[in-house]
Amino acid sequence: MSPRSNSSTVSLPRSNGKQAAPQVTDEVVVREAEPDDLPEIVAIYNEVLATTSAIWSEQPTSVAEREVWLTGKRAGNYPVLVASAPSGVLGFATCGPFRAWPGYAGTVEHSIHIRTAARGHGIGAMLLSSLEDRARSFGTHVMVAGIDATNEGSIRFHRRAGFVEVARMPEVGQLRGTWRDLVLMQKILDP
Ligand SMILES: CC(C)(COP(=O)(O)OP(=O)(O)OC[C@H]1O[C@@H](n2cnc3c(N)ncnc32)[C@H](O)[C@@H]1OP(=O)(O)O)[C@@H](O)C(=O)NCCC(=O)NCCS
Repeated sequence: MSPRSNSSTVSLPRSNGKQAAPQVTDEVVVREAEPDDLPEIVAIYNEVLATTSAIWSEQPTSVAEREVWLTGKRAGNYPVLVASAPSGVLGFATCGPFRAWPGYAGTVEHSIHIRTAARGHGIGAMLLSSLEDRARSFGTHVMVAGIDATNEGSIRFHRRAGFVEVARMPEVGQLRGTWRDLVLMQKILDP
């Protein structure tokens, strides 16, 4: 698979002084993740873990764990994409198998996370669109998103990208000691 890039200029918020924020108009490029991106991917993942209910885990990740993850994605020919600006990585997206049986080979489940300071500026849309193109390029028929039912922002985001809600599964997981409901949304890429 050859890496695919998208480039776009977007407006991003100025720094609030608490973290290195992206510049006001950064050139954002979507590209394949490289091992050098892993510290920033880890920071984004751990920020989402600590501040949202999007990831049903209480275990922060590490660069060592993400090295194994990236190697596994590459071995399986699954893309890991980053939205990269001169100021650093703003978000990442990846996909993997939906279910293990051969009949599900045409379906992938994806995940996508954007740095808090960079949300709401079209970066998620850019990343998801590139991920869809990549998924199409290896014959994917359906993409699935599994979303915490209280994550209305992500549900809206996916709906806007053409995903439709197909299931609501009460109490199929736990986070911080409480049962969580899962919303499954899907998009048929080539109807
Ligand atoms: C959900 C997410 C990937 C969307 O990416 P994004 O770059 O913020 O989204 P875009 O700018 O491309 O699209 C904006 C739309 O996303 C939705 N959205 C979700 N969270 C948002 C946020 N924190 N700020 C602004 N928009 C958000 C809204 O529907 C928004 O459209 P609207 O303002 O007209 O309602 C991103 O907000 C994120 O990483 N959130 C935290 C982690 C998460 O929930 N990941 C998905 C798990 S399934």
